[in-house]
Amino acid sequence: MSTSNLFSPLTIRSLTLKNRIALSPMQQYCAVDGKPTNWHMVHLGSRAIGGAGLIITECTAVSPEGMNTLADVGLWNAEQVEAWKPIVQFVQEQGSAIAVQLWHSGGKGSHTHPNEGFKPLTVENGGWITKSSSATVMSGVVPEELSVEEIQQIKTDFVEAAKRAVEAGFDTIELHAGHGYLFHQFYSAVINHRTDEYGGNFENRIRFLIETVQAVREVIPETMPLLVRISAVDYLDTPEAWTMEDSLKLSGILAENGVDFITASGGGFAHVDKSLVHPGYQLPFATAIKGQTGILTGTVGMITNAEQANQIIVDGEADVVVVAREYLRNPHFAINAAHELNLETDIPWQYKRGY
Ligand SMILES: Cc1cc2nc3c(=O)[nH]c(=O)nc-3n(C[C@H](O)[C@H](O)[C@H](O)COP(=O)(O)O)c2cc1C
Repeated sequence: MSTSNLFSPLTIRSLTLKNRIALSPMQQYCAVDGKPTNWHMVHLGSRAIGGAGLIITECTAVSPEGMNTLADVGLWNAEQVEAWKPIVQFVQEQGSAIAVQLWHSGGKGSHTHPNEGFKPLTVENGGWITKSSSATVMSGVVPEELSVEEIQQIKTDFVEAAKRAVEAGFDTIELHAGHGYLFHQFYSAVINHRTDEYGGNFENRIRFLIETVQAVREVIPETMPLLVRISAVDYLDTPEAWTMEDSLKLSGILAENGVDFITASGGGFAHVDKSLVHPGYQLPFATAIKGQTGILTGTVGMITNAEQANQIIVDGEADVVVVAREYLRNPHFAINAAHELNLETDIPWQYKRGY
């Protein structure tokens, strides 16, 4: 048992979250030239009005090749910085903190819009040749293997995007290292078949992520928290699959390299067996990482109600609950949860007459 509840503040480096509820990153597929639009202002802004302690943007590409679809947001140029600024400012005006989730899709890039079937997008139709740790088939396409020079360039892209995130005013940065995207394509031996220093044993497979963490940590303020989302397991029953044991080892190394907080998600290379999915199904990952490494953790996956969310914090099983689909139904999840649990939270003065 901890002495905290869902509405206890949490301080990470110099950032204090007003409560333990985070909006989970969710791609909206409606950016224009990588720039967030009015939709993003309202989508992120309304969850801030609704009381979330931390708003995490959808995955935000560090380069055009890092996108999934042409409608993803990015942070590879100055116009994108300017487009993010008013959104960041509005969220902060509501008393919420905002993180940008920086990301490269690697071999999962170049797809059509979900409304057009999310199929591989060919070069003739405006797509690009996808690249990954190895030429391992993903979503029906075989990407090219990245050269070491190209790996270095992507690391630089993360560093430059991190600098732009600081310039745009974000409170913190989350590196998306899960869900079958580029970092995960390196650390999981399911995809990574390289024989150089970026493949083979565990240390080599995590090298790209660790080097990127180190490089990003160097250019962001000492006071700014650095978050990482991982896939704690591959949900695959093969000898190459990434396991919880690997995640515990990785989490310790991330912590030693200046990462403050890990959200433990899962999967990314195959559909997750529905029988495994139930309320809080990924909570044991966060609890184990927190318990064995001492790092702060976020838990994500079917957290849908106030009682459940509060119990996770009261029991000390994770430090933050990260809520995705419930937030699509209920933008005021946090305020409503406080009301239901009879706990104190700030309600925007404009909305006070509703409570
Ligand atoms: C529409 C949609 C878009 C998503 N986009 C992202 C994303 O950009 N980055 C990410 O890390 N996870 C993404 N996810 C995964 C969610 O953040 C979350 O991990 C998953 O939905 C499980 O949580 P839930 O049961 O609360 O929905 C997305 C999920 C949905 C439903």
